Amino acid sequence: MIDPGARPSPNIWHHTSTYELENRAVDPDRAIEAAMRAVSPWDRRAVLDVGCGTGFHLPRFASTASSVVGVEPHGDLVALARRRTRRLPNVSVVQGTAQSLPVPDASVDVAHARWAYFFGPGCEPGLAELDRVVRRGGTAFVIDNDPTRTTFGAWFRRGYPEVDPGAVERFWSTHGWTRTPVDMRWAFSSRADLESVVRIEFSREVADEVLASHEGTEVDYAVNLWWRRY
Ligand SMILES: C[S@@+](CC[C@H](N)C(=O)[O-])C[C@H]1O[C@@H](n2cnc3c(N)ncnc32)[C@H](O)[C@@H]1O
Repeated sequence: MIDPGARPSPNIWHHTSTYELENRAVDPDRAIEAAMRAVSPWDRRAVLDVGCGTGFHLPRFASTASSVVGVEPHGDLVALARRRTRRLPNVSVVQGTAQSLPVPDASVDVAHARWAYFFGPGCEPGLAELDRVVRRGGTAFVIDNDPTRTTFGAWFRRGYPEVDPGAVERFWSTHGWTRTPVDMRWAFSSRADLESVVRIEFSREVADEVLASHEGTEVDYAVNLWWRRY
């Protein structure tokens, strides 16, 4: 069952094992984690991962956080996230959406949403929920693509020309969020893995073009880390 209110996420919904390869290839140097830690560490604090998918990031948070809650609208992915974290007593995974978070008021110190629901204009209901659940002194993080630079940014512009980076930036700054640009990379263990991931992220036409123009198993990739203190 998929909660109404879920945004279609065909990459992870329909190609779950290929999306796992993608997650393993993302940011081997942990630049995103370092940028988040520079703003607000989560050691011995309560973490919420909104749109946690198969729970890829939950064990990492759980290794130092006091508690971790993953929220995910897709029932099959909830089951996979629960299986991944079944031996971690400080992790729970709950089915739900960003617009109606199944967690109590003022119960979260650090909220995290990575490539999930919070893509700029239209995510106001989720922002209202973050206002409700993040405690005073807490921090929320949103990670999304930066289409304005790097090899992946150029691919993204070609694949998703409707995304207007200026409008996205205005949206977040109007709502009191700060942008930290992060340079990271995709590093795959084989060319076949890179090609299969490119094919779940882009149309056949765009995937053919970008793969023909790029050699090897690595891709330089910029993301925006958006964050706000409460
Ligand atoms: C691209 S995946 C990213 C998954 C995970 N954050 C990761 O990095 O592995 C996007 C996820 O957002 C979830 N999602 C879609 N609509 C959502 C909503 N309204 N609220 C919360 N999560 C949502 C999808 O089901 C999917 O698991």
